[in-house]
Amino acid sequence: MHPALSLCARVEYGTAVSTDLSDREYDIVCWGATGFTGALVVEYLIEHHGLSGLRLALAGRDRDKLEALRRRMCEIDPAAAKLPLLIGDSLDRPSLDAIAVRTKVVCTTVGPYAKYGEQLVAACVAAGTHYCDLTGEAQFIRRMIDRHHEAARESGARIVNCCGFDSIPSDMGTYMMHRAFEQRGGQVRRVRMFVGETKGGASGGTIASALNIADEIKRDRSVLQVLSDPYSLYPTGEPAGQDGRDQAGVRKDKDLGMWTAPFVMAAINAKVVRRSNALLDFAYGRDFRYAESASTGAGAKGLIGAAVVTAVMTAAIPALAFGPTRRLLAKKLPKPGEGPSREAREAGFFVARLIADGVDASGDPMQLRGRVEGVNDPGYGETSKMLGESALSLAFDPLDSPGGLRTPASTMGDRLLERLRAAGMTFRVE
Ligand SMILES: NC(=O)c1ccc[n+]([C@@H]2O[C@H](COP(=O)([O-])OP(=O)(O)OC[C@H]3O[C@@H](n4cnc5c(N)ncnc54)[C@H](OP(=O)(O)O)[C@@H]3O)[C@@H](O)[C@H]2O)c1
Repeated sequence: MHPALSLCARVEYGTAVSTDLSDREYDIVCWGATGFTGALVVEYLIEHHGLSGLRLALAGRDRDKLEALRRRMCEIDPAAAKLPLLIGDSLDRPSLDAIAVRTKVVCTTVGPYAKYGEQLVAACVAAGTHYCDLTGEAQFIRRMIDRHHEAARESGARIVNCCGFDSIPSDMGTYMMHRAFEQRGGQVRRVRMFVGETKGGASGGTIASALNIADEIKRDRSVLQVLSDPYSLYPTGEPAGQDGRDQAGVRKDKDLGMWTAPFVMAAINAKVVRRSNALLDFAYGRDFRYAESASTGAGAKGLIGAAVVTAVMTAAIPALAFGPTRRLLAKKLPKPGEGPSREAREAGFFVARLIADGVDASGDPMQLRGRVEGVNDPGYGETSKMLGESALSLAFDPLDSPGGLRTPASTMGDRLLERLRAAGMTFRVE
């Protein structure tokens, strides 16, 4: 259990604070716009939303790079020439305060978040400004909950982590299954998500974030505890539920009819789903259970696939921590600012299957199946869509969730589901 959980017996979920942000100069500031993923988010917003109803500003630490990005965006929409450029530094709090007070939402792609993220969270909390990010770093989120959740509840700032491939398919997919039970008068009790056919790449920032987690574990063993505790992102003081640790080996799922293996992002995704349930006042039930794995197919081919995925997963963290393999990987893998080409992004996709168990309106057992799909590289094409739509939802949707350190489903719920479907993602109950 996370140490903070045993130290504090107080549990508060909060009520909505009405914060009037209508006098803010911008709807959305894209912070880290010059990075690989940041530029994709800006491009997504301009291409798919347009600038006519959106007061967008580009922000970063390097004016020349921001000007170059703005020139590039003019090829999509000449109106981009007028986009304001805001300069700051992630480690310079006053520069972040000056940005946060001017906008309704800060959408940030500056990572590793554990290194560069805290001052921006603090600035948004102080200004009552909503915030969304792409972190998948559980130790960063836990620190932000401990240090800023209460103040964010008071200021009304919705600080929403994990708005990319980690953890929107898992978090919004589970929320969709809960809603399907609710609409049938029933109650969900358990969700299993299986991430299946997937094609995608990695960027320099993602590699840097993974390396930073390995460094933090070396420096501070308690980080490992946060990463491995299934309930480490639970609200402070809330007793842990029934889930054990994430799947570690090869298994066969009878309902799915496929072999399964550990999924690299289950460690963050499952914690986010559990936090959503808690922040939704346990709408999925206090005894709700969630598990996530990679599905590799049926028969001998599926079994071999599951064994290979398990072996790679088992070797990955030690390889990132161990000097010689780490140096080799650092040489071979993308550098900051680099990532999959447009062609590779467009050839990417992912499919995730959900099996949800619960009871129907008469209390009899009911099982529903669902599917979440993306039609681009999950980490970049689909992620820029998921983060962009999260920022738009925070800026424009009439949300009734309170401020605090929050999750996508517990903050934007049905509104975000509608947006993601309209943007071409599949969220379907079968
Ligand atoms: N959850 C997901 O599915 C998902 C998917 C993709 C990425 N991510 C995460 O998103 C983050 C960014 O990845 P990326 O590949 O886009 O990284 P990147 O290309 O290296 O971009 C990083 C950005 O941070 C900026 N930056 C670095 N230090 C700064 C500072 N002190 N002050 C202000 N700005 C600073 C960089 O500015 P300069 O341009 O001036 O260097 C750049 O704009 C990573 O944490 C990654 O793990 C998550």
